[in-house]
Amino acid sequence: MAVRPLVLLSALLLIACVASAEPAIDETQFPLTYLPSGERMYKQYCAACHGVDAKGNGPLASLLKTPPPDLTTLAKRHAGKFPYDYVSNILEFGPGLSSHGSSDMPTWGPLFRYFDKQNERVVQQRIQNLCNYLASLQGK
Ligand code: HEC
Repeated sequence: MAVRPLVLLSALLLIACVASAEPAIDETQFPLTYLPSGERMYKQYCAACHGVDAKGNGPLASLLKTPPPDLTTLAKRHAGKFPYDYVSNILEFGPGLSSHGSSDMPTWGPLFRYFDKQNERVVQQRIQNLCNYLASLQGK
C-alpha cells in the first residue's frame, strides 16, 4: 500500500515525540491484558454508527452525511482477504487517507492515545483487538 512508508514514518516520529515528552513511562510496564476485547470496544465505540451487527445501521447512521459502511463486507470488497492495514490506518488516522474520506467518522488514534496515556504499544494493541473482531465478522 502506497501510504505505508508515510505511516511508518509518522509512527516513528510520534514515538520519538512521546518518548521525549514523557520519559517517565516505561512501555514494558503496562500490561496489555487490561484492554477490553475487540467486541467490547466495538459495541462501545462503533456500534452507534456501524450497528451492533456491523452492517451500517446503527441508531446514529441516519444523522450522518456519509452512511456508515457495512463492515462485514470488508474482506469481500478487498479481494477476499480482511484488509488489516487498511482498517488499522483508518482507525489510527481517520478515513481521510482513503479516497472517499469524510469527517463523519471519528479519528480514533488520538482518542486512544489519550485513553492510554500516550502508550503507543497499548494503542496499537487496542487497534489490533478491534481489527481482529471485525475480521471475525466477515461474511456474517
Ligand atoms: C459517528 C459515527 C461513526 C462511529 C462512532 C464510527 N464510525 Fe466508522 N465510519 C463512519 C462513516 C460515516 C464512515 C465512512 C467514512 C467515509 O466514507 O469517509 C466510516 C468508515 C469506517 C471504515 C471504512 C469502511 C470501508 O468500508 O472502507 C471502517 C473500517 C470503520 N469505519 C471502522 C470503525 C470502527 C472500528 C469504529 C469504532 C472504533 C468506528 N468505525 C466508529 C462512521 C462512524
